[in-house]
Amino acid sequence: MDILNEDLLHYSELHTTPESPLLKAINRDTHAKVMMPRMLSGHLQGRVLSMISKLIQPKLILEIGTYTGYSAICLAEGLAPEGKLITIDINEELQDKVKKYFDEAGLSSKVQYRIGDATKIVSTLDGPFDLVFIDADKENYSRYYDMVIDKVREGGIILADNVLWSGKVLQAKQDKDTRAIVEFNKKIQQDIRVENVLLPIRDGILMIRKLSL
Ligand SMILES: C[S@@+](CC[C@H](N)C(=O)[O-])C[C@H]1O[C@@H](n2cnc3c(N)ncnc32)[C@H](O)[C@@H]1O
Repeated sequence: MDILNEDLLHYSELHTTPESPLLKAINRDTHAKVMMPRMLSGHLQGRVLSMISKLIQPKLILEIGTYTGYSAICLAEGLAPEGKLITIDINEELQDKVKKYFDEAGLSSKVQYRIGDATKIVSTLDGPFDLVFIDADKENYSRYYDMVIDKVREGGIILADNVLWSGKVLQAKQDKDTRAIVEFNKKIQQDIRVENVLLPIRDGILMIRKLSL
């Protein structure tokens, strides 16, 4: 289920800053040559990530789930001058491609690209994070949140992708991933340490802001 019909999505993209030539090429190349290209954030969501990052001007960004690097490049557009982005992915097969994209984006010195299981790596990282993007395996969303929340600065933002899970969050009969997303959304809604808004963009982005308590 798409939240926006194709015509409205097209109209929204027509009234959104275009993708850079590099992002357009990554988008095209991913769709032509990589498995499951729907995982890539895409034009509209990419510009949303870029805009949010530019508003925050983060010194340190953590991304969980690099895939082909599209969202990492969008998020990095907002980095403060000395800022850094750490991005983690378990899939080592894409690493040559992704490193080449980061080079082409001029991000080699700003991006720390880690290959491995994020459930093991995240606990080894030091914050404070200004911005975190959770976009990896759905069954571990709550775990990733628990691992990062104390490392996010007060006023910092966590974005979690796919929280509408193609509308499956509304279905009575739920598979493992859907149950994990539903539990995650419920957990955030009940967490008094944060305020949150579910943005119905693409597959749903939960935007979570850590409060000063
Ligand atoms: C939805 S894709 C990320 C898309 C990317 N953020 C974008 O918007 O272009 C999810 C990625 O998470 C990775 N992943 C899945 N489980 C993981 C884990 N336990 N640790 C690290 N990465 C994982 C997958 O290999 C996949 O590349």
